[in-house]
Amino acid sequence: MPPATFRLFSSATILALALVACSQQNNADQATPPSLKAAVGDRFTIGAAASAPQIATPDSQAVRILTTHFNSIVAENCMKCEVIHPHPDTYDFAGADSIVAFAQENDMELIGHCLLWHSQMAPWFCVDSLGGNVSPEVLRQRIRDHIYTIVGRYKGKVRGWDVCNEVIVEDGSYRQSPLYQILGSEFIFDALRFANEADPDAELYLNDYGMTAPGRRDAYLALIDSIKARGLRIDAIGMQGHMGIDYPTVDEFEQSMLAFAGKQVGVMVTEWDMSILPTVSTSANISDVAQARKEYDPYWPNAVPDSMAETWNNRMASFWNLFLKHSDILRRVTAWGVTDASSWKNDFPVPGRHDEPLLFDRQGQPKPFIKEFINKECNK
Ligand code: GLA
Repeated sequence: MPPATFRLFSSATILALALVACSQQNNADQATPPSLKAAVGDRFTIGAAASAPQIATPDSQAVRILTTHFNSIVAENCMKCEVIHPHPDTYDFAGADSIVAFAQENDMELIGHCLLWHSQMAPWFCVDSLGGNVSPEVLRQRIRDHIYTIVGRYKGKVRGWDVCNEVIVEDGSYRQSPLYQILGSEFIFDALRFANEADPDAELYLNDYGMTAPGRRDAYLALIDSIKARGLRIDAIGMQGHMGIDYPTVDEFEQSMLAFAGKQVGVMVTEWDMSILPTVSTSANISDVAQARKEYDPYWPNAVPDSMAETWNNRMASFWNLFLKHSDILRRVTAWGVTDASSWKNDFPVPGRHDEPLLFDRQGQPKPFIKEFINKECNK
């Protein structure tokens, strides 16, 4: 169960805010702008990933959108190991502290992302002075120090932590990361135990992409059982929700949502975006970036054709309706970025593309399905 303070926040407070905001909007004398968070109300929290530089300028477009439309925020990069713990005895809390302060000043729930991830991990973390893998004992101690220090510093200020990110691959086997090679799956149980010790009131999550792949999904279902069998806590599963214009299907996503909920854990869509550009096959040769851009960024410098924008909007609307339908099991929906301008999808997997994967466009305007939802909910 979530800590009592947060339960209170996500039900009574958000509902009250929603009613106030939407009714203010109905009153022509009020200047309150239409808001996504008010329209969502108490169904689930609605979040976005933001970078430390993005929130540093008070009047920026990103800050305006974040504070108007979202009641949840996650650090895009500044809490990742390579940034926050770059050397064994050096922590850099500057970015993380600023996002914690921003969340508090703006009454937003803050999600900690992420404690252990094979990617964007500081290079020293798993190796000894000769460059070989450290012993299991040394790695376990490093994981403990890392988690105790970071979770301890933000105790009471973070609603929940992505404790482990992307530990299972598509066929259901564990990712062969250095963490796994040295400690086996024990590193996951250790990490959950340490995070719980450091802040017993923070929720604990496992987060991964491609959760519609049956192998990965079933492996997480089994992992939830193992975690519980050891008497450890797991509060929710994060389904990242990085989608393409042609994958996954709404049905596949729904099946995985329901499967996780069936294990009595919360479900969250943690990194939602949907590329409007052609999907790049994993076997594609993108070493010739100029050529790849021609092939996989077909609309630029013209606008995305209306028919494609409509296809994207309809697909996003179908997923949004799915989330609304399952708001009883869904705790949070978080977009991975504020506007299309700053999305990582512009540079992945082909650098320099012009993608439009998010809820707000480059001008800071909500996409049609969001606009329609806000209008409908706030004009009831
Ligand atoms: C993964 C991570 C995120 C982010 C995205 C891409 O999904 O969990 O933190 O790095 O990749 O930007």
